[in-house]
Formats: sequence, C-alpha cells, structure tokens
Amino acid sequence: MMRFMAGLILLAIPLVPAAGEDRGTVVTGKRGMVVCVSPEAADVGVAILKQGGNAVDAAVAVALAEAVTYPAAGNIGGGGFMLVYPPGGDPTVFEYRETAPAAVNRDTFAKTTDWHDHKAVGVPGTLRGLELAHKKFGKLPWKDLVAPAIRLADEGLTLDAPMVKSLNEVLKKAKNEEFRRLFGKDAGKTPWQVGDRLVQKDLAQTLRRIADVGAAAFYSGELADLLVAEMKAGGGCVTKEDLAAYQAKERKPIRGTYRGYDVYGPPPPSSGGIALVEILNILETFDLRKTGAGSAETRHLMAEAMRRAFVDRAKYLGDPDFVRIPEFLTVKEYAKKLAATISLDRATPSASLADGITLSSESGDTTHFSIIDANGMAVSNTYTLEDSYGSRVAVRGAGYILNNEMGDFNSRPGVTTAKGRIGTESNLVAPGKRMLSSQAPTIVAKGGQPVLITGSPGGRTIINTVACVVTNVIDFEMDIQAAVDAPRQHHQWFPDELKLEDKNPDLRKKLEGFGHKVATEPKQGDAHSIWIDPKTGVYRGAADKRINGKAAGY
Ligand code: DON
Repeated sequence: MMRFMAGLILLAIPLVPAAGEDRGTVVTGKRGMVVCVSPEAADVGVAILKQGGNAVDAAVAVALAEAVTYPAAGNIGGGGFMLVYPPGGDPTVFEYRETAPAAVNRDTFAKTTDWHDHKAVGVPGTLRGLELAHKKFGKLPWKDLVAPAIRLADEGLTLDAPMVKSLNEVLKKAKNEEFRRLFGKDAGKTPWQVGDRLVQKDLAQTLRRIADVGAAAFYSGELADLLVAEMKAGGGCVTKEDLAAYQAKERKPIRGTYRGYDVYGPPPPSSGGIALVEILNILETFDLRKTGAGSAETRHLMAEAMRRAFVDRAKYLGDPDFVRIPEFLTVKEYAKKLAATISLDRATPSASLADGITLSSESGDTTHFSIIDANGMAVSNTYTLEDSYGSRVAVRGAGYILNNEMGDFNSRPGVTTAKGRIGTESNLVAPGKRMLSSQAPTIVAKGGQPVLITGSPGGRTIINTVACVVTNVIDFEMDIQAAVDAPRQHHQWFPDELKLEDKNPDLRKKLEGFGHKVATEPKQGDAHSIWIDPKTGVYRGAADKRINGKAAGY
C-alpha cells in the first residue's frame, strides 16, 4: 500500500514581503485576468493563460494550486460549482457538489453536535468536476495544469500573516493527528511565524498520481483505498462504492435578467442562482437609484427581498435529482407579487412569512475565483470544504483535508427554528443526494458579452454578498473595486435580523425605526471579481480587501 509519510519540512527564512501591492486596488488587463484569494494561485492562473491556456485551463490550475496554498477552502477533498461562459456560446455549469454516502439516512445526523469528524464527510466532487470542465473546454494537457500545484506543494509556501493566523487558529481546535502533523509546525506544538515555510510532500505525491492518471486516481485504486481506510479508522461512511459511483454533472445555469442585463448563476443543488434571481427580480420593481446606495431605504428594500427569497429557499430547494423545484421562483410576475407585500418603511416579521413551515422553539470556509482570457471566455468558480479546513480530518498518507459538507443538509427533520435551523423536507439527508448549497458563482452579461464575474464564500451570506455587488455595479454604477469594497448586508429570514457591515449609527437607528433588528457583521464574504468594460473591452480585476486576495492581469 502506498503511504507517503514524508512529513513536513520547516525552514526559518526571513520575512518575504507579501505579494500584490495591488491588493484593494483595481488591476487592469486586456488579455487575461485572474482574481482569487491566493496570490500564488493568481500567478499560476496568469502563467497558464500566457502559456496559451484558456480560462478553463487557468481555472483548473488555480483550483488545484489553491488546494495547496489555501488549505482552509482550496481543496481536492470538497466540492463546488464552476460557471463557464464560452465566447459566442451558451453559459454552462459544471456541478461538482459532494454527495451523501449510501450508508446515511434522514435521521443519521439528527443528534449531531460536532461537525468536525469523519462522519460529516460527503463524497468529494472537486477532481471529477475539474476534469469534466477540462474535457469539454480545456486546451492544455491536464498534466500541465496539475504541475504548478505539485511544485507549490513540493517546494513549499512562505507563510504570510493571514496564513499564519488561519493555521494557528485552526490548530487550537483541530484534534485529528494527521491534520496536526500536516498543518502544524512541530505537529502544532509551536505556533507558526510569518516567513515560515509549509511544505506538503504527501500532497505533492498525491497530485503526481492525479497528474498521471487523472481524476480516476482519486476515485479508485490506492488513493481511494487511503480515503476508505481513513473513513474506517474514524467512523466515517464513505466507501469504495461511493467513490466509484460519484459523478460531476454539467447543468444548465439559472438565467434571470436585471435592468436589461442577463444574470447567470448555478442551479440546484445550489440555491445560489435561484435565490439571487428572485432577490434581483423583487428589487427591479423598486427604483434603487432614487433611494440611493447604502441608504436606510435601500438597505430596507434589499433586506425585504432577501428575507422573501430565503423563505422560498427553505420551502422548495434541494437536490433536483430528488425534489421537484417549482419554476415560478424566478418568474418576474411572482417577484411582483412578493414585492407588493413589502412596505416602504416597515419590516415584515419573518414569522409572518413562515406559511406552511412549522416553527419549533429552541439553535466556515469557501473560496471564489473569477477568470477571463484573451478570447473573452469567462469562468466563475466557487468551491469549498464547508467549514474552514472542512472536517479538519486529513487522509493519512495522502496529504489532503476532507470536507464536512454533510452539515449543509437539514439535519433535524421538521425542526425549523427562529434561530435559523431549517428542517424542511426538500433538503433532508438521503443516500446519494447532494446537500443544498448557497454557492453563487455568477456572471452578468449584456448582449451576449460577460460584463461582471463575481461570487463569494460565506455560507448563506454568499447570495446576499453577490446581490450587493450586482446592485452596486448595475444600479449605482460603481467601479468594480468600489462595488466590492462597499459595506454589505445580510438577511436570511431566520434569525430575523438584518446584519450590516456599515456601523453608521444614524443608518442603524433609521432601520430600527422601520422595525428591523439590526446586528453587526464585521466581514461579509470576499468577492474576488472582474468587470469587463463593454466599451473598451478592458478587464478590471478587484480583489476583496477583506482578505488576502490578488488580482493578476496582463
Ligand atoms: O455550499 C455552501 O453553501 C456552504 N458549504 C458554503 C460554506 C461557506 O461558504 C463557509 N465560508 N465562509
């Protein structure tokens, strides 16, 4: 049996200044743009474009590089959604969401309180998804796209301040021995310092297999044996049969329109596309330009639209291979009916919208990147391990972290609470079912040309973060960096509160006067975005200053 217990090499080297003076400043390019959380991965993406790769090639390489450089969310042990808009073609989604193992049922997680263990792991989808996208659109050989990730894992990564903070934080909590061996300095006994290097030899070896064989190396053979052995050792459910049966799927995106623009997002099993279009359809019935960016009136209308879309998310959405999803949710007439129930200066109590959902009394990390190439092929990709570092379980001898995505199912049948737990039928656990996601990689287009590529991490806040960016660009005509930087807001029906990044006391007072319970969200998501100027064709990349991102263009 293959075991790569090469371990971790630590070298104390002087602090290297963090790359990207461009952080928080727009970066322009005419031939290519990659915006993501990891400066090293952004550089990998641009190098692939310069090598003659297209946006999908770059996306595959960036996703694999981030599995090395951003282990909190970059992954091969998780899943996600890739929206591709090919030049002159129709947008399409590669859906690689994790799947429930065959051994679980609707009650398996009813009493679960700790989601950081083997049982929380869903069948990973990332490699099958990247491979599917590459098979359809890729130009460069698969091997060349895995090579940068292998190099980064082999040679190691110089840790900057955000990485040091992130690793030291998770090591305070992570119990899994292999995780500590791989991601701890001295197995977590010594805290990381800025300038230390994280070398991932086991992961490099795993990636070499994947480079040679393709995704099949992960879903069968020795790597699959290692995953299954890890599951058996820790009481997890994923079997060899689950791995062999896993398939990524190409799906038709959700399409909506907003004030003359086309909006594309991922379909179920993500709620992202439908909820975003529903929010935008409701907002379209109001004159947001008149109420103004960031005003109490605009914040109120946005909160009411969000609240209503989140009721429908709970009521209707789940894996479309298991539940029938009504078509009216994204229809303009339906949004008009919902908009008619919104008062201009009174918050609607969430409980009054529960209609048919029984309320009980009682109580992460993802990452997004945006890419465009010289031919205008656009990729919007969000993927995740669910929580920061997922289950915090690493596969012994294989060097990678497993997701804890099973927590995205409604784990307690029938238990929907005012604190935000959802127990509706559509997203209950079933063998082979995909758990409902909020990931919302989005592309906005005009006349068949993409103008905006965006998305974010943040669980249920993702949908609202994207709604904020879209309205900032379209309604308030903000430059992309301003649209990304502007304070965001979140309402998810339950808990019945409006979370604001904006701390302005007058704004809060006015919203409280409208009847909102106002709370503070210190940092809502990180939306690494690209604006494509329709007049000049110039790409404007905006990394989100809320995190250590980079826009790299040329
Ligand atoms: O797919 C989803 O909706 C979640 N698993 C995403 C989790 C997440 O964004 C956590 N990140 N901050």
